[in-house]
Amino acid sequence: MCGLIGYSGPRDVSGVLLESLRKLEYRGYDSAGVAVVNGALEVHKEKGEISVMESSMPPMQGHTGIGHTRWATCGAPSWKNAHPFLSQDRKIALVHNGIIENHNQIRKGLLENGTVFSSDTDTEVLVHLISHYHKGDLHAAVRRALDDVRGTYSIAVVEEYSDEVVVAKKENPLVLGLGLNENFVASDVTALLEYTSDVVYMEDGESAVISPRGISLYGADGSAADRPPSKVQWSMEEARKGGFEHYMLKEIFEQPRSISETIISYIDELEMLEILPTRKKVDMVKILACGTSYNAGMVGKYVIEELSGIPVQVEIASEYRYTTKTNRCPLVVLITQSGETADTLAACREAKDRGSFTLAITNVVGSSITREADAVLFTKAGPEISVAATKTYTAQLIAVYLLAARLGYMNRSMGDEEMRIFKASLRALPNKVSEILDRAQGLQAAAAMFRDATSAFFIGRNRNFPSMMEGALKLKEISYVHAEGYAAGELKHGPLALLDERTPLVAACLGDHTYDKMVSNVSEVAARGSPILLIANDDNEDCETLADQIVRIPPIEPLFSPVTLAVALQLLSYYVAKERGMPIDKPRNLAKSVTVE
Ligand code: G6P
Repeated sequence: MCGLIGYSGPRDVSGVLLESLRKLEYRGYDSAGVAVVNGALEVHKEKGEISVMESSMPPMQGHTGIGHTRWATCGAPSWKNAHPFLSQDRKIALVHNGIIENHNQIRKGLLENGTVFSSDTDTEVLVHLISHYHKGDLHAAVRRALDDVRGTYSIAVVEEYSDEVVVAKKENPLVLGLGLNENFVASDVTALLEYTSDVVYMEDGESAVISPRGISLYGADGSAADRPPSKVQWSMEEARKGGFEHYMLKEIFEQPRSISETIISYIDELEMLEILPTRKKVDMVKILACGTSYNAGMVGKYVIEELSGIPVQVEIASEYRYTTKTNRCPLVVLITQSGETADTLAACREAKDRGSFTLAITNVVGSSITREADAVLFTKAGPEISVAATKTYTAQLIAVYLLAARLGYMNRSMGDEEMRIFKASLRALPNKVSEILDRAQGLQAAAAMFRDATSAFFIGRNRNFPSMMEGALKLKEISYVHAEGYAAGELKHGPLALLDERTPLVAACLGDHTYDKMVSNVSEVAARGSPILLIANDDNEDCETLADQIVRIPPIEPLFSPVTLAVALQLLSYYVAKERGMPIDKPRNLAKSVTVE
C-alpha cells in the first residue's frame, strides 16, 4: 500500500521522482506528492492520481528529494492528508508507508509541547517526532523517533540544505538502488529499473543514509551493516506497456511466456526439489493466502489431493490467527504474488509459531515473505503492474502443480511414468494458452452481455470451481459488476433466487467428468431466463442449445483446465471493463500490494 521514492544525485530530481512514482502508482493513487531540497524544502502535493499532481506542479529544481503515492488508510484521501509531511519549522519532510499504531498517544505528547497538526494521518506524528529529537543529526533523530513508534513503516526523510535521504524499514518493503554518483530508494524495484539494476533489499529494523557519495546501511542495533548488492533480472521493457492499451491486457498476453518460464525453472529437478521439510512427514497441507492468491490455493487443494492423496485445507490468511493453536500442520504453504501482503506475512509467522514448515510461493525475489518462510518457490511472471492479478495467478497455478507433483512423487502416489506424463502435459500448456489468446475476439464479443448487468454468477465444479471464483473476482475488481463464483451444485441452495433475465451466468462446461452435471445445472438456470455464457471445449456440442453465447477453448488434459479457463475469464473481465469504460489498470479503492492487516 502506498509507494515511496527517494533520490540523491546529479539528475533533476523532480523528473526522477515523477517518473518513478508513475511506476509505483499501482500501489495506491488517492493522492501524490513530492518534496525537493532546493536549499530550503519545497513541497507539492495534490489529491488524486499522479497526473493531477504533475499537471499543477510548479518548476521544482534540486538534486535531492522524496515522493509518495498514497492509498489512504488513516485519514481520508485529500490534499491535507497527502504526503510528504513537513515539520512545523519546514526544515524536515517525510513520506511513509505503513501504519503508526500508537499515533494517538504520540500526538497527545506532541500537542502538549505545542505542536500544531495539519492532517488527520498517523504519519504526521512521525515528522514532528523526528523534528523534536533533531539535535543536528537527521539519521540519529530518525532512529530515536522510531524507538517511540509501534507499527509498521518504510520511510524516507529529507532536510533543508542537505543532499542526504534517510530511510528506515519495518514490515514494509524498501529497496535501495545503487548508481554512479547517485543513489535511490523505492518501495519496489520496478521504480528503479530505469536507472539501475544493482539493489539492496532492506531488512526489518535497518536504516540507511543515501547521498551521491554512497549508501550507508545500519543494522537494527544501529551499527554499520554491509551487504553486497544483488542484480535485478527484470528488464525495463518487461515493466512497460509494450504497445498494449492497458497493462492488464499486456500481462494477459504475456502468459505463455510467464507460464513457460515458471515451468522451465523447476521441471528438470522436480523429483528432488528441496522445498519440503526434511524432518517431518507431510500427511497434511495447509494453504494460506488472500484474494487471487487464495483462489490459486483453492485450485492447489484439488490438484495436490489428486496427485498426492494428501489432504489439503485452504484458509484465508487473515483468519488463520483466530483458529485454535491446535490447528497446525506439518507443511503450510503461503501464496502471495507480492510477497508483502501483511495478512499473509502474519499468517506465516503464526504458522511458524505453531511449529509448521513454511513454504512461500511468490513472484518477488527479495520480498518480505522470502525472508520469513523456510523455503520459497518462485513464480517467474516478471513485473505485474496492473492491480488485477493475471499472469501472477496462472504462474501461481503452475507453482501449485509443481508442488503437487513433488508431493505425489515423494509419497509414491506418482511413479516415474506418471511424472513423465505430467511433465509432458505441463510443457504443452503454454501453447494451449496461446491458442486461447488467439481467440480473444470471441471473448470480446461475449462481453456485450455484461454491458448493463449489475450482478453475475460464475459456476464450475471440482478443480474448475476455484477458477470460476477467480473469474468472478476479476469481474468485480475491474468492471464493478457484483459477481459471485459458486460451486455449480450449490447454486440451487440459495443463489438461484437471485437469477433473472438481467443476471448473466457464466458456466464452465468442459469435457471432463463433471460435464453432465454441469449441463444439468445450466439447464436449471436456462429455465429461469438468465442470459447464459458457456465456456466449453471445441468438441462439446450438446450444451450449445442452452447457451446465449458460447466461447470455445481448446481441449486439454483436465488436470490443467483451471489454467486455460482462467485466461479466458481474464479476457472476458478485461473486455467487460473496457465496454463499461472503467479505469482497468487502477480500479477504485484497490491496491496491488496490501501491507496493512
Ligand atoms: C490485493 C490485490 C489482489 C491480491 C491480494 C493478495 O488485494 O488487489 O489482487 O490478490 O492483494 O496479494 P498477494 O500479493 O498476497 O498475492
